Amino acid sequence: MSTFSKKHLLGIKDITSDDIELVFETADNFKAIINRPIKKVPSLRDITVANIFFENSTRTRISFELAQKRLSADIVNFSASSSSVSKGETLIDTVNNILAMKVDMVVMRHPAPGACVFLSQHIGANIINAGDGTHEHPTQALLDAFSIREKLGSVRGKKVAIVGDITHSRVALSNIYALKKLGAEVMVCGPTTLMPKYIGSLGVKVEHDLMKALNWCDVANMLRIQLERQDNKYFPSLREYSMLYGLNKERLDKLDKEIVIMHPGPINRGVEITSDVADSKHSIILNQVENGVAVRMAVMFLLAGQG
Ligand code: NCD
Repeated sequence: MSTFSKKHLLGIKDITSDDIELVFETADNFKAIINRPIKKVPSLRDITVANIFFENSTRTRISFELAQKRLSADIVNFSASSSSVSKGETLIDTVNNILAMKVDMVVMRHPAPGACVFLSQHIGANIINAGDGTHEHPTQALLDAFSIREKLGSVRGKKVAIVGDITHSRVALSNIYALKKLGAEVMVCGPTTLMPKYIGSLGVKVEHDLMKALNWCDVANMLRIQLERQDNKYFPSLREYSMLYGLNKERLDKLDKEIVIMHPGPINRGVEITSDVADSKHSIILNQVENGVAVRMAVMFLLAGQG
């Protein structure tokens, strides 16, 4: 059996397409397990995992925690607002203290891009990046690509449009790396002000007209406007954004084909996507959430095997 090439999952940029395929094959097995009446396996028994969240999270934190419980790991949860970080403790001190408690694996979300790389250079535990600022969110990209593979049979050759706040979204960057490594064609769509200048160098098409993007793609991944990361006004109003870039039923009805609709959550209903589309049969948003648990089980299982 092949093994994962890295000790940590810091970003999709550093891993290979073989690593991604290995995660998918492992996740297929775990998905079958978590749909059985007895959902728990002993694969991570005796492994202690610390979930360290310096930024808000609902879905990702619960998904990791559930994945750890299904694998029988011991868990310590730590969130910045209820910890000594609010008393001025530095990241490395916080983590050293947690490691003194003999933690084997750390799942961390942090507002600073590169925070997980920094951590991996200082401590021996396996590190999983659960989102580092505007940089990467690797497990989200893995579960997104896994969900496309499940829905359409494979990722290779599929046309995926990523729509919205490309500049501030870590989901966008990790998705671009993952989809390109798996042989998909990728287009980013959004207003010029929310599009990084270098984006074309990642080998993606750039489009500013939503209808053109929708006509081109097999899958549309609708991203949230990351208002909490915007220190400037990047567009006149949410209403105008929604008129130009919001996905609604009228737009979908104009297409001469059916496309798959994705969203990483949390959804701002009525901004990037209307409720009728988010809840329609074209949407795989809840499948993404379900697959998140199996994919995170796979990642933790494979990294634990790396020591
Ligand atoms: C994303 C994130 O935190 O980057 N959410 C998630 O992890 N499911 C996307 C977002 O916040 O818009």
